[in-house]
Amino acid sequence: MISTPLSFGREATVELFSRSGRPTSVVKDYWPQHHRLYGKMHRELFSNVPFYATRLTEDRRVSLSRKEAALLSYLSSQGFAPRLREYDQRKLRIRMSYVPLETFQQAIVSGLNPLEATELMVSHLAQLHKHCNGNMAELSSAIGEFGVGIRTINAEREAAKWDNYLRTTDFYLSPVFEDYCQDQGIDKDDPKLNEDRIREHLSRFHDSLGLPGRGSLTVLMQEERKFSLCSTFIWGEAGPQNLFYDPENPGKVMAIDFPRVRRGPGDQVDLVNVLYNLHRDGFSLNEEYESLQMARKYFESVGIPEEEIPLRLGLLPATRVKELIRKLQSTSRKNSYEISRAQGKIRDLSEPYRNGGVKETAIMNLTDLLEQVCEAYGSEEGEGTKMLREVVPNSNPFLGSLVFNFIDYFQSHLSRTEVLR
Ligand SMILES: Nc1ncnc2c1ncn2[C@@H]1O[C@H](COP(=O)(O)OP(=O)(O)O)[C@@H](O)[C@H]1O
Ligand SMILES: [Mg+2]
Repeated sequence: MISTPLSFGREATVELFSRSGRPTSVVKDYWPQHHRLYGKMHRELFSNVPFYATRLTEDRRVSLSRKEAALLSYLSSQGFAPRLREYDQRKLRIRMSYVPLETFQQAIVSGLNPLEATELMVSHLAQLHKHCNGNMAELSSAIGEFGVGIRTINAEREAAKWDNYLRTTDFYLSPVFEDYCQDQGIDKDDPKLNEDRIREHLSRFHDSLGLPGRGSLTVLMQEERKFSLCSTFIWGEAGPQNLFYDPENPGKVMAIDFPRVRRGPGDQVDLVNVLYNLHRDGFSLNEEYESLQMARKYFESVGIPEEEIPLRLGLLPATRVKELIRKLQSTSRKNSYEISRAQGKIRDLSEPYRNGGVKETAIMNLTDLLEQVCEAYGSEEGEGTKMLREVVPNSNPFLGSLVFNFIDYFQSHLSRTEVLR
């Protein structure tokens, strides 16, 4: 057996095993620290990241890997995922069958048209969601055998999460925070500065700017829930890097990567993350229109009644902005290897990766997009809102102000800290 590491992440490493030159299985290992190449990889790829792979607690690793194994087991029995061959509970290692296809991400890099790719992925997502939502009891009991359940989080926890995302973003990207640190004599890059201390500094920094606290975000999130579907299946890792493209059978769903499966509210999270694929090269009203049409088709395919579709479409921009902020904070923490890997530009670790400017470019593209989405959907006068009103004439007017308030909360925060212009 020969093994080729495919990816080294902070959570897990993924490795391909082959026999006589033929790939046979893939192993996902939730203890990167125990991997025989850890020391080497750490030096090569993560020397600029303090605490690489040591931040997650053991409990968290156990629960992520169990959930992944449980979902693989259930979803492969339904034909949506590669077969779970073995789950080693002690080593937190998952062995699954090898999928002899390119991911959509790789297929796009090799020339598959992004519009076509996105349409296919939206249809894959709809099939997966429809199945899981329609068989929730069966799914829950199947994964219960692995000792895991799929939980929903409350509005307070959700607000706390996004509050943290804003802090992380400011920590890495805000020039105003840089100035604040200089003034206060804080050495931001001091490796001894632990996360709690960083959080305290950021709280004081936000207070000094007079930014609204987490409470008002909680209220917005509670409001949003009144319009959300409450108990839907959320994959949490939907995207071109985790869906495979089969040119011979383009409608066939094959998915991987399930440690973040949970239950709604937030029925649009996966959809937004698949549609993101259309918008990653920048903002254009044409693409906004395409993506709205795809969203409509998705809602029809999963069985949302016709009269509720305007409401679901009207809520999309709020989820868009939230998910862009999640991406921005996660990108701001990554190094160029992790960003290139997420962009599908590294297939395995034998390929060199380009270092210069990868991160800067990724951050710039994301902040540009976020700015434009906020501008387009943040008010009644925005181009996006106007288009939405035209295409979806009977969207709920109250929903408009909820979406505007949401966007305003994030936009004004990130403008004050000058992460956005
Ligand atoms: N069963 C598989 N068959 C083929 N390729 C796989 C398989 N599992 C993972 N990969 C490849 O490894 C990459 C990382 O795997 P994934 O489970 O998504 O881990 P991560 O959490 O690092 O994203 C995928 O994007 C895909 O290219
Ligand atoms: Mg993945």
